[in-house]
Amino acid sequence: MAPITFLECTKCGERLSAAQPQTVCPKDGGILYARYDLQGLKKTFRRESLAGRVASLWRYKEVLPDAEPVTLGEGFTPMLASRETANVYIKDEGLNPTGSFKARGLSAAVTMAKHYGLTKLAIPSAGNAASALAAYAAAAHIEAHIFMPKDVPFANRVECQTYGAHVTLVDGLISDCARMVQTRSSSAHWFDVSTLKEPFRVEGKKTMGYEVAEQLGWKLPQGIIYPTGGGVGLIGMWKAFDEMQELGWIGSERPQMVAVQARGCAPISKAWDEGKSVSEMWPNAETVAAGLRVPKAYGDYLILDILNKSGGVALAVSDEEIMDTVRHWAQVEGIFAAPEGAAAQAAYRRLRSSGFFGPDDTVVLFNTGSGLKYLEIIEKEKPESVTVSQAPHSRQIGGIIGPY
Ligand SMILES: Cc1ncc(COP(=O)(O)O)c(C=O)c1O
Ligand SMILES: [Zn+2]
Repeated sequence: MAPITFLECTKCGERLSAAQPQTVCPKDGGILYARYDLQGLKKTFRRESLAGRVASLWRYKEVLPDAEPVTLGEGFTPMLASRETANVYIKDEGLNPTGSFKARGLSAAVTMAKHYGLTKLAIPSAGNAASALAAYAAAAHIEAHIFMPKDVPFANRVECQTYGAHVTLVDGLISDCARMVQTRSSSAHWFDVSTLKEPFRVEGKKTMGYEVAEQLGWKLPQGIIYPTGGGVGLIGMWKAFDEMQELGWIGSERPQMVAVQARGCAPISKAWDEGKSVSEMWPNAETVAAGLRVPKAYGDYLILDILNKSGGVALAVSDEEIMDTVRHWAQVEGIFAAPEGAAAQAAYRRLRSSGFFGPDDTVVLFNTGSGLKYLEIIEKEKPESVTVSQAPHSRQIGGIIGPY
């Protein structure tokens, strides 16, 4: 693995050492990026180097922090060709440990926390990041302190408790949880692994960009549709494309990056429509797609810049469209998607009918999680009629009940 040469502020360019834990830029709160000696790496780290490597995100170890990985087999998820639409691919992140792409970021962040000798981590979460932290912290024998809205999907709560994390349910949104973590962290000696407030979750998430390139034969798609809350994956993939260009693996071409949000919480989409470079706090955020209920993304300035540079777009879809798409995807693709992931397909439909994407454009849709984590939400939205029938007459034989 490569030593990090320095951490670089995405606002002012300030350089910080990665020898000790860092949070954000001390001058302006800018998000820090890990930088490697890519020019040096270029001589030995080639696309062909990946052949036969482990089928996890750690296959890209040269561009990940130089530490012993805390891994549960995250990443290198399937890139499935749509059965419904030519040139559409579904990157199925639901197959990650803990059932969502949050595993990637937390594997990298917990790896570095362990490397630094940190013993207590804290996170505000919309749900899936909490489950992922709880799992990786358990694997690393580190304490996890979790703050999440009291109405998170049931699975998230049960997972965190089962992994042995300390869970606080908050009567509020992720932004309220973030404030609580911030207030308590220094007296409780917690290290805050909030989205983009430490440099390594984005390192884990950037591997989605490497995988898109590798799985599509090193030809980047025309478009990538990404369900955006905090936007870490979108930011990470863009970083990956720049790194791959510097490694000589791809050229200067880039996909059009699309951020999809839910209508009940669409701060990035609103800022995009208004031509702004940062977003405003979204009031009374509400959507069935729990992971998209992020009223203000810390990395909004990076997300909006990437949408601009890539010729992309931000848009919002309704909860009705999202839930219809969950069922549609399940029935035509055999993929039981998280509502957030279904939002990507709903956005694709819109962008095809508006002509933003044409039939020949290769587009990758990110299904960011498994629908299995949202059973009560999916069932509540439209309980399907289920046939209940009487079991055939049965008899008991030696303690085993069986039909005959
Ligand atoms: C399933 C799912 N999709 C998308 C998101 C949004 O992710 P990001 O914060 O990277 O934009 C989340 C966040 O919780 C999520 O759980
Ligand atoms: Zn700075």
